[in-house]
Amino acid sequence: MSYADAFAKSIADPDGFWGQAAEAVTWDRAPAKVLDDGAAPFYRWFAGGELNTCHNALDRHVAGGRGDQAALIYDSPVTGTARTYTYAELLEQVARFAGVLRSLGAGKGDRVVIYMPMVPEAVVAMLACARLGAVHSVVFGGFAPRELAVRIDDARPAVVVSATCGIEPSRIVEYKPMLDSALEMAEHTPAHCVILQREQAPATLVPGRDLDWHEAMAAAEPAECVPVAATDPLYILYTSGTTGKPKGVVRDNGGHAVALLWSMRNVYDIAPGEVFWAASDVGWVVGHSYIVYGPLLLGATSILYEGKPVGTPDAGAFWRVISDYGVNALFTAPTAFRAIKKEDPEASLLAEHDISSLRTLFLAGERLDPDTYHWATDRLGVPVVDHWWQTETGWAVAANLRGLDPMPIKPGSPTVPVPGYDVRVLDIVGERCAPGVDGAICVRLPLPPGTLPTLWRDDERYLASYLSAYPGYYLTGDGGHVDEDGYLFVMGRTDDVINVAGHRLSTGSMEAALAGHPAVAECAVIGVADELKGQVPRGLVVLKSGVEIDHGSLRDELVRMVRDQVGAVAGLKRVDIVPGLPKTRSGKILRKTMRGIADGADEPVPSTIEDASVLDALRPVLRTHR
Ligand code: COA
Ligand code: AMP
Repeated sequence: MSYADAFAKSIADPDGFWGQAAEAVTWDRAPAKVLDDGAAPFYRWFAGGELNTCHNALDRHVAGGRGDQAALIYDSPVTGTARTYTYAELLEQVARFAGVLRSLGAGKGDRVVIYMPMVPEAVVAMLACARLGAVHSVVFGGFAPRELAVRIDDARPAVVVSATCGIEPSRIVEYKPMLDSALEMAEHTPAHCVILQREQAPATLVPGRDLDWHEAMAAAEPAECVPVAATDPLYILYTSGTTGKPKGVVRDNGGHAVALLWSMRNVYDIAPGEVFWAASDVGWVVGHSYIVYGPLLLGATSILYEGKPVGTPDAGAFWRVISDYGVNALFTAPTAFRAIKKEDPEASLLAEHDISSLRTLFLAGERLDPDTYHWATDRLGVPVVDHWWQTETGWAVAANLRGLDPMPIKPGSPTVPVPGYDVRVLDIVGERCAPGVDGAICVRLPLPPGTLPTLWRDDERYLASYLSAYPGYYLTGDGGHVDEDGYLFVMGRTDDVINVAGHRLSTGSMEAALAGHPAVAECAVIGVADELKGQVPRGLVVLKSGVEIDHGSLRDELVRMVRDQVGAVAGLKRVDIVPGLPKTRSGKILRKTMRGIADGADEPVPSTIEDASVLDALRPVLRTHR
């Protein structure tokens, strides 16, 4: 089918289009309906259907003859190990861990928080939840205890699964003390924690509460798949909103399985048995969709890489993995390629590896700058495909669909809306913008299968955050335009969410950390452009009057507070102490204006500004980088 036909059909006849796609899933009970719009604007997909996501990802492949095929290849340069799990082996581990969870009282609908590094046990734990109909919520290992505690209190898990440490090239990150401290901060207390002891940092377990992963596995009885409703939640993934309180994005079982299977073939052009590598982290949506569920639902081989693009041991690490495992498609964030390019500008390390298996490089997570696009295209000699999506959507909103009819690539654009997404760029009054004119990128409802049906136990916030700005549309939070040829250009967030090295972070949670210092009267965090990481946060604080304090040590303390309270991954390295922050007459801090000035733009001074002299005083500070 051509892209144009697929897109037109998906919009005109969503029932027909997604009903056909749903045939790729094994259902315990066929859906009664494809699209259920009875409670619009809350839409549900495949109502009445029953399935088990783990069955679709593992059992049916083993039953269908893929038992000896590699399902998951764990490659860990930071520990010097590599291990392949066949579909049969992974199924055995998952069924057994499902037995562990069941014995701890976790069943259908119960939540399980997973706070783990990039180890196979993280994947096993996710799939074991899916097997029982329990709802996992994976928290990225780079987040600090406070962020973990907030998520634990919102998800209220029966069990937490963790490991004693993660391994960064420069240090061992001890997770166990962070977990213990998060559990002290949290109001909710899970009955049990299952802890994977890693030899790099063994930890003491809390008697009665903590179980050793290996001991629990040895004692467990394997558990069978529990069929769940297509509309039941598979997972909650917290993502940064504009406030400090993260949003619990809910993913259902049925729509998710249908959409990811469709995307593996049509967006990524991957067939069962091929090797797909998403060099991301299981803590992010890319890891959920394309390290774990997408490749396994399809019967492909997925790579789980515990390492970095550079430094583990060098800028040839990606080429080594591609050649060792015959990777057919690599998916990562542009920042990873900028890091490689910085270290090895000529990609001279490529000569040491045979990467002829690679057909396509997919990039997402942040804007793909044309320089990085050209560098990657020239060096790799394969199509470099930018595609745009978000935690909320769970899969691509705009892409160059490699499995339909691929289109010419325009650097700077993720190409066209993916079938199912009726993307519209709207102006301030909700009219469609003319080609080339920037506006708010929205998607006309309903969103396709696989996208968020709501926020965890917060329908109101779902409506307020996404559906209220333009009735009938989902607000993506990104701004951009469509050109004369219908290509979408995503220019950046229109809110206070920032993107640091492909990691989505909220300036609100960093501000909350800064504001917690007794000397700070008010503060703002803005994301400014950075050559390597795309954006980095910068903090600006105003001191309470009369406070006398050494500015140098205060700045260090504030940087440390953000690191301790939000996590190292926030990457806040610079805080300036300033006399005042520019505001509107109604008291709103002009973050966008400050960001524009810091990025060197000719930023207009808003007419709503309360006192322009405050902004003028800040200009030299904002324009000075590190
Ligand atoms: N657990 C604990 N700490 C973590 C972590 C984790 N899972 N991931 C990152 N951190 C820490 C890092 O050690 C670093 O700490 P430091 O300040 O002590 O050095 C800090 O968080 C910032 O990490 P990062 O933003 O990754 O910067 P970096 O300088 O270590 O590496 C890149 C830069 C570009 C190599 C790296 O960001 C990268 O590989 N990016 C790809 C991003 C990606 O895959 N995104 C997923 C979307 S597809
Ligand atoms: P996350 O929810 O962490 O996946 O982050 C989603 C946000 O990352 C989007 O709202 C965009 O701002 C940004 N983003 C993701 N992919 C792209 C892309 N291909 N081009 C531009 N921005 C992107």
